[in-house]
Amino acid sequence: MKRFASAAEIKVGVVGYGGAFNMGRHHLNEMKQAGMTPVAVAEIDPERLKVAEQDFPGIETYRSLTEMLKKSDVNLVTIITPHNSHAKLALEALKAGRHVVCEKPMAITTAECDAMIAAAKKNGVVISTYHNRHWDGWIMQAVKHQQEGLWGETIRIEAHMGAYGKPGDWWRSSRSISGGVLYDWGCHLLEYALQLITAPITEVAGFVKTGFWAPQTKWKEDTIEDEGFAVVRFRSGQWLTLTITTIDSNPKRGMLEITGTKGSYIIDFHANEFITRDGNTTTTTRYPNPQPEGWRFYQNIANHLTKGEKLVITGEWARRPIHIIDLAVQSARKGRALPAKYP
Ligand SMILES: NC(=O)c1ccc[n+]([C@@H]2O[C@H](COP(=O)([O-])OP(=O)(O)OC[C@H]3O[C@@H](n4cnc5c(N)ncnc54)[C@H](O)[C@@H]3O)[C@@H](O)[C@H]2O)c1
Repeated sequence: MKRFASAAEIKVGVVGYGGAFNMGRHHLNEMKQAGMTPVAVAEIDPERLKVAEQDFPGIETYRSLTEMLKKSDVNLVTIITPHNSHAKLALEALKAGRHVVCEKPMAITTAECDAMIAAAKKNGVVISTYHNRHWDGWIMQAVKHQQEGLWGETIRIEAHMGAYGKPGDWWRSSRSISGGVLYDWGCHLLEYALQLITAPITEVAGFVKTGFWAPQTKWKEDTIEDEGFAVVRFRSGQWLTLTITTIDSNPKRGMLEITGTKGSYIIDFHANEFITRDGNTTTTTRYPNPQPEGWRFYQNIANHLTKGEKLVITGEWARRPIHIIDLAVQSARKGRALPAKYP
């Protein structure tokens, strides 16, 4: 792979400049902060292209990725579109010899992830996924505490998100566009958990409930599942559960709870908690979380492309949460656990 002499030589373009969280602006600013040069935006909505022009005066604007690849000399393309378009757009850019960062989830199926990894290899370019939350304060602190042996041996992790509420009108509530209820925050929670359990996955059992909210939403039968649940078994003997729900009137505290041989550890937005038992005495220690360092994502991409620094979020890494979710969805359909597959 050709190395760039400096980060400034890496010309970056984004595909998708949506308004829900202004993610296009966020990506271009972070790439700029890492020293790269924003040059282009591709977006199917002309109103959002106008916003991009206001945010980055003089930036090239295109109505499609195809047009951008034809007319622009961008070296790195970041895809920030709804989930069901990630694989198709990424493959188009990879085949055109451009480095690609895809927003999470990397794709919807394992097969799509494998095709993206293979296309990157064939074309001598990078495929990565924007797992900026890899550097959230709470998970960085948990990884450090695990390394220090705070809770002893990690036995199991329970990951959960959601509450009771009808899915909204946005595309995230469409199963065919988003992939389903497990794909949005589920992907983040699994990426956190897989930093703590690094053993190979052996099998996944999935469970879903559908149809409660569906008649009440604009997506009808295409509405995301009311709840998705997965149990993941690892070769190390550890296990992990994931619950993403829209139907839980008593949602659990925190995002991840780790059961260890010396205590329990709850990962939460403001502070992590460590709980121990000694006879009848329970002791709880709170650890305020450090600030997030998501900017490290693009810093690592720039350093990888200029100095050959080891890539943190590889295609293979980003495939792991997708493989779990993909197997969980298939398992729920088939009614039995399914074995994990490695290429
Ligand atoms: N990492 C994070 O913390 C984080 C936060 C928010 C969103 N996301 C991810 O970002 C992605 C986009 O989410 P969003 O909230 O920005 O959605 P959004 O709806 O605000 O924006 C998506 C944009 O993509 C455009 N688009 C759709 N298809 C296109 C195509 N083929 N070519 C060009 N443009 C196209 C749409 O017109 C829209 O403006 C999703 O994968 C989501 O999960 C990640």
